[in-house]
Amino acid sequence: METKQIQKEIRQLIEEREAILLAHYYQRDEVQEIADIVGDSLALSIEAAKTAARVIVFAGVHFMAESAAILSPEKTVLLPRRDAGCPLADTVTPEALLEARKAHPRAAVVTYINSSAAVKALSDICCTSANAVRVVQSVSEDEILFVPDGNLARYTARFTDKKIIPWGGACPVHDEIDAGAVARLKQAHPDSPLAVHPECPPAVLALADFVGSTAGILRFVRESKAAAFLIGTEQGIFHRLRLENPGKTFLPASPSLLCETMKFTTLEDIRSSLKENRYVIRVPEETAAAARRTLERMTALS
Ligand code: 13P
Ligand code: SF4
Repeated sequence: METKQIQKEIRQLIEEREAILLAHYYQRDEVQEIADIVGDSLALSIEAAKTAARVIVFAGVHFMAESAAILSPEKTVLLPRRDAGCPLADTVTPEALLEARKAHPRAAVVTYINSSAAVKALSDICCTSANAVRVVQSVSEDEILFVPDGNLARYTARFTDKKIIPWGGACPVHDEIDAGAVARLKQAHPDSPLAVHPECPPAVLALADFVGSTAGILRFVRESKAAAFLIGTEQGIFHRLRLENPGKTFLPASPSLLCETMKFTTLEDIRSSLKENRYVIRVPEETAAAARRTLERMTALS
């Protein structure tokens, strides 16, 4: 009852403030239930760029709200929890990237959207897990410094002749998935396809029947005739998987698929965010202008 009441209050506040609530698939179930759009990083950044709303409330992590602020500088972008960061994004700093650029002067820098605005501003083009191969193919250089997810970099390298230089970052959630345990799970469930996110380690990706972004995994499950699936990505996706596929069953590929910072945002945080206009995400214009070019180069390919 309390949950329903807060959800109702949030929807009223959204109307009053001419806002839109964007939520990532890893958000809590009760947040996904009332969002205007639930999506993967790519869909959410496209939506942030084109929405007519005056206020964007981002139920996700910091880099997502920052991307929205970069793409829609005239709008107010709110991140309900200031501390909702992405540990993968924190594995690359602008200083370290400048050093790496010097070390690889011929390389184009392709930067995963899970990165800060300052890092994007020093890059050539952004990508998400949904379009990394297309982005890499789109640049003219034959050498690519791929930042910051090393697993996604190595996975992308399988689909191109270009020389990919992976950064050493990893997502603590996906990188922890143990290939041995996944292989045993597959043996126990031979009729259940394994769908995983490309942030998983190469040994896990090698076992997968499907590798893709969160939206890609949802599409694969919708289109598959199988009745049961093993899922190698953050557990928030189970809400959407069950909603879209009432007759199908899902097992996590690992028991610990929880992104803590994605789960920080509660309904109470979203309500306070709308009432008190917090936390406004601002990116200095010079950084925003450079970062915007890298994001727009990416969305132009979508
Ligand atoms: P998607 O781009 O697939 O939504 O993934 C975002 C993310 O943070 C994965 O850990
Ligand atoms: Fe970052 Fe990993 Fe969480 Fe995605 S799941 S937001 S990459 S820490």
